[in-house]
Amino acid sequence: MVSTATHIGDFTFDNCLMNAAGVYCMTKEELADIEASAAGSFVTKTGTLEARLGNPEPRYADTQLGSINSMGLPNQGFHYYLDYVTELQKAPDSKNHFLSLVGMSQEETHTILKTVQESDYEDLVELNLSCPNVPGKPQIAYDFETTDQILSQVFSYFTKPLGIKLPPYFDIAHFDLAAAIFNKYPLTFVNCINSVGNGLVIEDETVVIKPKNGFGGIGGDYVKPTALANVHAFYQRLNPSIQIIGTGGVKSGRDAFEHILCGASMVQIGTALHQEGPAVFERITKELQAIMVEKGYQTLEDFRGKLNYID
Ligand code: DHB
Repeated sequence: MVSTATHIGDFTFDNCLMNAAGVYCMTKEELADIEASAAGSFVTKTGTLEARLGNPEPRYADTQLGSINSMGLPNQGFHYYLDYVTELQKAPDSKNHFLSLVGMSQEETHTILKTVQESDYEDLVELNLSCPNVPGKPQIAYDFETTDQILSQVFSYFTKPLGIKLPPYFDIAHFDLAAAIFNKYPLTFVNCINSVGNGLVIEDETVVIKPKNGFGGIGGDYVKPTALANVHAFYQRLNPSIQIIGTGGVKSGRDAFEHILCGASMVQIGTALHQEGPAVFERITKELQAIMVEKGYQTLEDFRGKLNYID
């Protein structure tokens, strides 16, 4: 029997597939649906210090090749998610989870992380350095100096397992610079990639989402090559103790297989989950297992990171 089990840091998961933050994770009801599905884990909607309504609707649209969104960080406030995952982890058979967090300012981020540090929460934390949709707030991870400063401050007090959600980078020099910064810190994982920021989709003569005159984060088929490149670039550059979560353009077992081949230890599903619902996890798991059977692989370790190059 082939296994799609995996681990991130000391945390084990029966399946490597899970939701991507932002999709199907805004409420306890949605999170409970992922918990009950074939997914190996869930990550919560990125929680801020206070609850937020987010941007005006329509703020998400499916397109032929994926999706565009400018949600604007609507969420119930990080306490809502912290309380829920802390409650779940008390059950002996609970899956392990990821709590996604970020403040609207550096000060808020530290307030949130210090609260989590002092709480009973013991699972993984994902610090989101890559939200592209809040007007007037550039993505943190495109500013290397600020990123370095935040991580340096965070790791002065935060001792629980922490990873970061990254935006896509598009230049080899940026992969080198970013990796050199991340390698200075005891990160448990990096998650590549968030949406490709600030695309524009038009139908007839009009934009398809309302915020920011139609500009929004792109997901789905459009982004898979960029996602795979980021996963592999960081797999090549990061200390082996920093694992990679692969996110972007996964709608089939083949897509998940490619992410793992590029070095991903876990694979997240965003647009396809939004379009198909939590049944997507069982379908893609079966497709991934079928590929593994065909190739004679029994575990993800048999092919993780073993991408072939042309000599
Ligand atoms: C939102 C979008 C993101 O890509 C993200 O990382 C966080 C929040 C949003 O618009 O809600």
